[in-house]
Formats: sequence, structure tokens, C-alpha cells
Amino acid sequence: MDVLRITGGRRLAGSVPVSGAKNAALPILAATLLAGGDCLLADLPELTDVRTMAQLLGALGVDVRRQSDGQVATRIVDARPTRAPRNLVRRMRASFCVLGPLLARRGRAVVPLPGGCLIGPRPIDVHLRGLQALGAEISICGDHVIATASRLRGATIDLLGPHGPTVTGTANVLTAAVLATGRSVLLNAAREPEIVDLGEFLQRMGAKICGLGTSAISIEGVTHLQGATHRIIPDRIEAATLLMAGAITEGEVTVHGISPDLLECVLSALRQTGAQIESSESSISLRMAARPRAVDLVAEPFPGFPTDLQAQWLALMSAAQGRSVIADRVFTQRWAHARQLAKLGARIERQRGTCRVTGVAELRGATVQATDLRASAALVLAGLSAVGQSEIRRPHHLDRGYQRLEEKLSSLGAMIERVQVDCPGEQRWRASVLEVKAGRL
Ligand code: EPU
Repeated sequence: MDVLRITGGRRLAGSVPVSGAKNAALPILAATLLAGGDCLLADLPELTDVRTMAQLLGALGVDVRRQSDGQVATRIVDARPTRAPRNLVRRMRASFCVLGPLLARRGRAVVPLPGGCLIGPRPIDVHLRGLQALGAEISICGDHVIATASRLRGATIDLLGPHGPTVTGTANVLTAAVLATGRSVLLNAAREPEIVDLGEFLQRMGAKICGLGTSAISIEGVTHLQGATHRIIPDRIEAATLLMAGAITEGEVTVHGISPDLLECVLSALRQTGAQIESSESSISLRMAARPRAVDLVAEPFPGFPTDLQAQWLALMSAAQGRSVIADRVFTQRWAHARQLAKLGARIERQRGTCRVTGVAELRGATVQATDLRASAALVLAGLSAVGQSEIRRPHHLDRGYQRLEEKLSSLGAMIERVQVDCPGEQRWRASVLEVKAGRL
């Protein structure tokens, strides 16, 4: 079994590049299904989720190739498949982003209900409601969504869910509406930079879209989209995670290849902890001269503090001076990391949708389980700060969303390595999961 071994207590210092954004790359790859010609994507991160999306596109007749210069070229070689294989879709939530493009371009889409990180309920009702408003016939057969439409027609669609606008729901409806007849207006659309990036890619393909980055996006449908060349925006979540690694180790870290505009809310929260932040158009530097101060926080849709950084913030606050209260309005049950952080000595009290944290002067190394992507990142941060050695089990979660994280952290001076260990307990656990799946337990 792989574990991530970290010897904590070292101050991180140095400069690292930021990779392309996972949550922009995935819907953009799905949108290449709409293209009448070849697409060329730069800065597509090398991640498990990106490989899963490439495999899914392969099954849907798209040839996806990484070229020697690192850019990724896509070409539709067979426009007939409309069924997304269950084994791929179950691996990640973002696979569901093929629904809108398949429906708009091929008139039919059969997509299993998606899987992904275990961070609480993740319904798809708003996606389906939006596509129905565009004229799609939708039925759910077993665990498959079947959507059909001979030609979608423009409509006004509200994308507000109970916890704010849906991000991948906006992607699905946007990628369908670009080929609908007439005008569509998406109200309460997600304003996340990754949706803006998707919209800009679609514009390069010839889509007519206004209002990207606002909560009202209007789209004038076109009959045909061509291939396009596009550079994926930098990953603001990765950049902020690396800056927080600097903060929790009282270090000095620069991330380059990203504009501070993508991280205003996060940088403001980091400043309140006592971090000195300096930035240029394409880099952000953080210097933390003392133990961070506790700062309360609420994770919200963009431009608020991202839920994808809530776990890392909880780790930072666990080592901060003072008490803080942290809430997540997007995924109210996204707290699996709190229990694991406690094993490292964090003092966290969960009360319904919030966590109250009393910062401790010293976290201690321990063995912990990674439960999902951002929870894993939080455990890495805590491990970097903890005295002694920590082992993080199931580190494969990190590979879904962080490109070469160990390498980047090592270049900043962290002692972190992935090692193989024997773990009979884990083998027994895996065996019983397989037995349950096989219906034998
Ligand atoms: N929701 C509904 N109905 C829907 C869709 C969503 O009630 O039809 C609810 C969800 O249950 C949640 C809230 O609305 O409470 C927001 O969910 P959203 O649909 O915006 O999330 P998502 O599109 O599934 C994307 C990111 C997540 C990120 C969230 C929120 C991608 C591929 N995933 O998920 O990223 O946390 O937006 O910003 O873009 C991650 O990268 O680790 C990750 C989980």
C-alpha cells in the first residue's frame, strides 16, 4: 500500500509554478465533444481526473493525445457513441459534464449517475431541470440518465440550488445552450473563474455568450462550433494550498503563473492571519513571520472563500493562535478531515454545519487516512507543521487534483515522500470492501 510520509516541522521557502486548473480542464475537455474541428489545449494538468476524462472521451469517439510540447490535441473520430461507460463516470463527478455537449451535438446522451469525492450529498436535479427547460426529454432508468432532443431551444433557466448556484450544472446547461435555437438566459449562474474559462473556450469555438463571470449569462445559439485553441487558467486551489503550506510552516513561499485576482478572498483571509502578501500580475508571495492568528471563515460560492479550501483552512487554524469558527455553506457535511486532523492533535469541535477550532502550539505526527481530495491536502498541511513523522494512507486522492504535489513541496524544503508499506489492516479492509461489493458480506 502507498503512504505519504512527511517529517514535519520544517520551514518551507522558495518558489513553485502553478499548474492548470482541474475544474476548468474537465468541463473544457467535455466541451470538445461540441467541436466541428480539432482542439488544442495548453496547460492541461497531468492528473488522474484528467486521464479519466480523456478515457471517457475516448469511449465517446474523441481521440485525445498529449503532444511532445505538453499540449493536448482532441479530434472527433467517431460521432456516433452517446453512452458514457459507467466504470469511468463512477470515478468522478465531473464526468457528468459530458451530458450537455452529447445532448446538444448528438441528440442523445446516456450517462450514469456520477461518483466522486465523498463530501456529502451531490444531487443533479438542477442540471436536469436546466436541460429539460431547453427542451430535452429526460428519464432516469436504473442509475442512468437518458436525455434526448432533436434540437434544443433557448430558454430562461434558474441555476440556483439550495446551497447556491451549481458549478458543473452551469457547465452542463451552458454547453447545451450554445447549440440551441434562439436565446437562452442562465440566471444564478456560477461565477467561478473555471466557468468563465469554459465560456471563453466556447467563445473561441464560435459560441455567442455574454455575461461570463456574472450571475446572468446570455447565450445566442449557433448551428455549428469549430475547433479552437485554448490555454487553461491556473489552478487557484492548488496555488492557495501551496501558500497555506508556507503559512502553516511559518515560511516564505511564492507561487508563480497566477494572478492575485483569482484569489482575492483567500489572500484577504491569509492577511488577517498575519501573513505578509505581495503580488505581481503573475505571482503571489506569502511570508509568515510568526504563528498564524486564528480567523473565522465561511466557505461560499465565488467570489466567496472556496469550499475546496475549507479543509486546508481547518488545518491552518488547527495550528493557529486562538480560536476560530469555520462554516461551509456549499457542502455543509464536508468535514471528514476534522476527525483525521484530530489524530494529529487538532482540537476541533463539530457543531452541526460548523467547526470550532482551538489552535494548538504543536501538532504531532500520526498515521491518518485520506478520505477525499481536499481532505488529503489538509492532512498534508497539518503533517508539514506537525512535530515528528506523519503517514497519510490512500494518498491517491491527491493525484486527482494536485500535479506533482510532493515534488513541488520538496522543492520548497519539505521532507515528504511516497513509500510502499505493508499494512495487513488495510488489506483486510480492502478484502471486506470487495466482499461487500460481490454481495458476499
Ligand atoms: N446541488 C444541488 N443540485 C444540483 C447540483 C448541486 O442541490 O443539481 C448542490 C450541491 O449538493 C452542493 C451545491 O449545490 O451543496 C454546490 O454544488 P455544485 O454543483 O456547485 O458542485 P459541483 O459542480 O458538483 C464543483 C467542483 C467541486 C467544488 C464545487 C463547489 C468541479 C469538477 N467540481 O462541483 O470541486 O467543490 O463545484 O465549488 O468543478 C474539488 O475540486 O475538490 C471539488 C469537489
